[in-house]
Amino acid sequence: MSDVDDKITSLLSEKRLFEPPLEGREAAVVGSLQSYEESYRRSMEDPEGYWAQRANELVSWFQPWHTVLDADLYQPEVRWFDGATLNVSYNCLDRHLKNGKRDKLAIIWQGEPEEEVRTFTYGELYEQVCRCANVLKKMGVRKGDRVSVYLPMIPELAITLLACTRIGAIHSVVFAGFSAMSLQNRIQDCEAKVLVTADAVLRAGKVIPLKPNADEALEQCDSIEQCLVVRRAGLTVRMQSGRDSWWHEAMAADGISPTCEPEPMDAEDTLFILYTSGSTGKPKGVVHTTGGYLTYALHTTQWVFDLRDEDIHWCTADIGWITGHTYILYGPLGLGKTSVMFEGVPTYPGPDRFWQLVEKFRVTIFYTAPTVIRALMRYGDQPLRGKDLSSLRILGSVGEPINPEAWMWYHLHVGGGRLPIVDTWWQTETGGIMISPLPYATPLKPGSATRPLPGVDAAILNEEGKPAQPNEGGHLVIRRPWPGMLRGVFGDPERYRTTYFEGFPGFYDAGDGARCDEDGYFWIMGRLDDVINVSGHRLGTAEIESALVSHPHVSEAAVVGMPHPIKGQAVYAFVTLNAGVEETTELLAELRVHVRTEIGPIASPDVIQYAPGLPKTRSGKIMRRILRKIAADDFSDFGDISTLADPGVVDDLIKGKEASG
Ligand code: WTA
Repeated sequence: MSDVDDKITSLLSEKRLFEPPLEGREAAVVGSLQSYEESYRRSMEDPEGYWAQRANELVSWFQPWHTVLDADLYQPEVRWFDGATLNVSYNCLDRHLKNGKRDKLAIIWQGEPEEEVRTFTYGELYEQVCRCANVLKKMGVRKGDRVSVYLPMIPELAITLLACTRIGAIHSVVFAGFSAMSLQNRIQDCEAKVLVTADAVLRAGKVIPLKPNADEALEQCDSIEQCLVVRRAGLTVRMQSGRDSWWHEAMAADGISPTCEPEPMDAEDTLFILYTSGSTGKPKGVVHTTGGYLTYALHTTQWVFDLRDEDIHWCTADIGWITGHTYILYGPLGLGKTSVMFEGVPTYPGPDRFWQLVEKFRVTIFYTAPTVIRALMRYGDQPLRGKDLSSLRILGSVGEPINPEAWMWYHLHVGGGRLPIVDTWWQTETGGIMISPLPYATPLKPGSATRPLPGVDAAILNEEGKPAQPNEGGHLVIRRPWPGMLRGVFGDPERYRTTYFEGFPGFYDAGDGARCDEDGYFWIMGRLDDVINVSGHRLGTAEIESALVSHPHVSEAAVVGMPHPIKGQAVYAFVTLNAGVEETTELLAELRVHVRTEIGPIASPDVIQYAPGLPKTRSGKIMRRILRKIAADDFSDFGDISTLADPGVVDDLIKGKEASG
């Protein structure tokens, strides 16, 4: 064991609290535990007063609201800041220009190739966004129309989203790693009028064509009238006349003005839709609205990252996920700060890429995912040696529980044993961070997201819906509305109600298991539904199963998560073939490709096991807990299996697993 491993082990067994740094406290937004506690108390005693004050401090409104909150979580019906109007791009751009920030850097973009860097001052970004807004208008996009965005991590992605908000169009970003089919489903669901995409994605040294996916998706998307294509890699692509146009031509066209009046939007107008996986059926379009989301994004960015004018904020997520929406784009730009946007991956060309970029841009706030930390830990501290990380002030983590070993490694190696780590728990649905330490106020316990932010009434309930005892595991719920909460599932109010508000009437059910310790610290244990978390990405097991059974040779499939040292969870699929089909290794490979094509590479199973039969109850329900244990190589104590229609299948599956080694 190395010295550092020793140190990690001994620090963990100490169970001590890691106190927030003293240095920097005075300038911090929240510089003491007491000040956090006062705000929290106030936010619980007078939530409307608290949020009205925050909304006034953080957001520029065109018209004030007449009602702060109108909510009934039983319905559910939630409206924040009714009567108010505002524009998100105005908040992210215009007002900063008026405040003397025209020449301040808004975005520092680092392409995958080291030499490709593009920077945008607020003034430059303003012009690009206005032009893009005018291009979209010219394409017929009007307030309330949907625009689907299928782009790699290039500046045009940020520009497109801000342009949508400028004219009141609703954006729906589809992560560029998703397949043509996934894109098609999402476009069809929200009936987008325009698609913005690119010729290709650069990833780990490879050029991966993207436009062909878009073409395939658009074969069955009647709502799409126009497709705008960014040239990223210079690939030759097919351009369908009358439908497709190049970004660079459209932006430079005669008559495209560099200014565009921001559209005043009602606080409750939809700002964007973002699809996320659930336990059943197809991904759902999570709906966020303008006033509440923006207020919440700014509030949490300011508090959790203590963002200051001189900061260089780097959130390593992709804008295809909620983390990128809120903490690359809207949070930092709404506050008028500098945000780094990186096209590449952590390990290409080498495992020091992140640290080299921290040094290059003098990054002060660094926000990443546990899976990244675990992947980088494997290389030891060598890639960090000789890198100047002294600019760093705060480290963050999101996406899944961070295991204490990874926490300690992050703290000691990246943070030099001095930097606070904000382990932030939240979800696509919550819009922004809900439970998290405040870097200069909260003593840390590795592995705990610590305490709820002000305004967040988090609790753990047991199966009966009663508050759980300290340290008793249960369901994580939020007992009152917060401005950033989702307002619906696009086109499906019933699913909105049943998914989030039926389990514990009157409360928002997060779908996560957690416990709260005697100090009021929350420990998140993971999803309680059939959603798995692979490298911090949410995947619905039902989606992967339906992709598998859509293959002509498959009759049934059951997918579970299995523990994985780097990804957190990996996808394990049990597959029953149609009668007469041979169980070959070639078919296993084919099934993996099939899932990639149906959903995308992130959903491709790590393990597929042929299962002549699945453990089902007499009523036909698959007992997933048995499959989870088999996947985890845990063949002890399966609990009560007497309700299985055929208990013999369990032994067959174990034998099958052992045989496949
Ligand atoms: C999990 C990502 C433990 C959780 C922002 C949640 C976490 C799901 C944490 C949401 C954390 C996210 N500790 N678990 N700090 N952060 N999760 O919608 O299971 O992609 O429900 O949002 O990720 O994933 P989503």
